Amino acid sequence: MKAHLRNVALVDCVSGWNASVLDEKQIKYLLDNPGVTKDKKVLDLGSGCGASSIAARLSGASQVLANDIDPVATIVTTLNCELNGMKPFPVVSKNLIGTKPENLELILLGDMFHEQQLADRLHCRLRECIRTHRTQVLIGDPGRVQFEGHTIRQHLQKLAGFQLPDSVREQNYGLTTFNNFIFAELYFNTCENT
Ligand SMILES: C[S@@+](CC[C@H](N)C(=O)[O-])C[C@H]1O[C@@H](n2cnc3c(N)ncnc32)[C@H](O)[C@@H]1O
Repeated sequence: MKAHLRNVALVDCVSGWNASVLDEKQIKYLLDNPGVTKDKKVLDLGSGCGASSIAARLSGASQVLANDIDPVATIVTTLNCELNGMKPFPVVSKNLIGTKPENLELILLGDMFHEQQLADRLHCRLRECIRTHRTQVLIGDPGRVQFEGHTIRQHLQKLAGFQLPDSVREQNYGLTTFNNFIFAELYFNTCENT
């Protein structure tokens, strides 16, 4: 039986993002493909309301760490865990970008490439995690220009795409599709040799 996630009018509390429907696509991917997270140590970087973290836990992740610099995210994530009958997992508000990468098996990023500078820093960070720990990375993005035009995009392989409903398109400046990506295997080889 497929897991379902109860989510939350609370989602939009976090940073004022209209994340509920965008993030829903990342959640759908995780719940439909439990092999992605099963038995893995997972970091949800920029976790917002924690919906992807909860989906990872429901899909069998052995350990989940949610991270968002907005302190409201911690509260909302804890409430969301309760709503889903789940023991809360750790949520940290510290900015982890720039710290020493932990030994994680999977990093989730949902709609995190909305600013050029943040996108650059994330790309460096992810590269470091891949090089030191061969961490897998799953990126969900609704086709933001800062993402589509970024160097990182050239190294990613598309896994799935979801059409966004009309109401979401209107609220998000005409974004039409939410796509999930992983780094292509070739990129892993390049990172190992640098
Ligand atoms: C567009 S929202 C996406 C939230 C969630 N991943 C989703 O898909 O609904 C971006 C989130 O990233 C968080 N954020 C921004 N910079 C961050 C950083 N350096 N480290 C962790 N979180 C960050 C924001 O607080 C915000 O909650």
